[in-house]
Amino acid sequence: MKSLIDILDLTTEELDELIATAEDIIANPSKYAEACRGKKLASLFFEPSTRTRMSFEAAMYELGGNVISVTGAGTSSAAKGESVADTAKTVSCYTDIIAIRHPKEGAAYVTAKNATIPVINAGDGGHCHPTQTLADLLTIWREKGRFTNLTIGVCGDLKFGRTVHSLINAMSRYEGNRFVLISPEELKVPSYVKKDVLQQKGIPYVQTTDLMAVMPELDILYMTRVQRERFFNEEDYLRLKDSYILTVDKLKTAKSDLAILHPLPRVNEISVAVDDDPRACYFKQVLNGKYMRMALILKLLKEAGQIK
Ligand code: CP
Repeated sequence: MKSLIDILDLTTEELDELIATAEDIIANPSKYAEACRGKKLASLFFEPSTRTRMSFEAAMYELGGNVISVTGAGTSSAAKGESVADTAKTVSCYTDIIAIRHPKEGAAYVTAKNATIPVINAGDGGHCHPTQTLADLLTIWREKGRFTNLTIGVCGDLKFGRTVHSLINAMSRYEGNRFVLISPEELKVPSYVKKDVLQQKGIPYVQTTDLMAVMPELDILYMTRVQRERFFNEEDYLRLKDSYILTVDKLKTAKSDLAILHPLPRVNEISVAVDDDPRACYFKQVLNGKYMRMALILKLLKEAGQIK
C-alpha cells in the first residue's frame, strides 16, 4: 500500500506527474468532480491546522468524495490512551484514505504501518510536512517555470520548521540549486539535514544570520514562523520570535522576479503591507496546496485500486 510519509517517498517523475495532474485540475475542474464518488477521506488532526485540514477536506469534496474528521486529540479515543497503531487499524475499517497530523515525529509512519489503506502525513512533529512541500513545489513551478538553477533563501526557524526540512530534501534533487540558510544561531538547520542531504549531495549552501546581506542574490525567499509550540521555554521563544520581519523597505534590494513564499500561518515575520507586492506568493501557495492534495488523493486511491 503506497502512502506518503516523507517527500522522498515520491520520485521526481512522480512529482512531475502530480504537478501535471494539478495543472489539469486547475484547467478542467469539472473533469474531476466525480473522480472519488463514494470514497471517504479520514481527516485526523491531533494538532491545530487551518490550511492543511481544510484543503484536504476541500480537495476530497471537490473530487466528489466525503470526509470524516477528528479535530483535536481530546475528541477521539486517543484521549483515553488508544495507541496510534490501534487508531490506524480502526480508521481503516471506515474510510478509504487517511490524512494525519500528529505532534509526535514518526506518528504518520506508525499509522501507515498499521493501516490497510493509504496514509498521507499532514505533519508529524518537527519532522516533515510533505504535502506542504507539494504546495511549495507547485508554487515554485508556476512562478519560476523550473526547479533548477535557483538560489533559494530559507529564513527563520530552520531548526523546528518541518516544512523547511522537506523543501530542502525536495529541491536538493534538482540540478544547479543553491541554498542560503538564514536563521539565528539557535535555530539553524539541524546537522542531519546538512550532513545527510546538502553535504552528501554536494549541494552548495551558506549559513548566515543576515537576511539583508543576501537579499539581492535570492530567486526564492521562503520565510517561516518561529515555532512556539516546539520550544522548551517561553523566554527563548520571546527572544527569538521577531528575529526576521520582512517589510516593503527590506525588499528594495531584492530581484524584481523574487518569489516570496511562506507556508503560513504568519505571525510577525512578513509585514501585511508586503501582501500587495506582486512578488508575494503565499496566498497563491495556499490555493496550490488544495490542487496538489487533490492530485495526491487521486494518485494514491488509483494505486490502491479504489478508483479508476
Ligand atoms: N502550512 C500549514 O501547515 O498550515 P496549517 O498549520 O494551518 O495547516
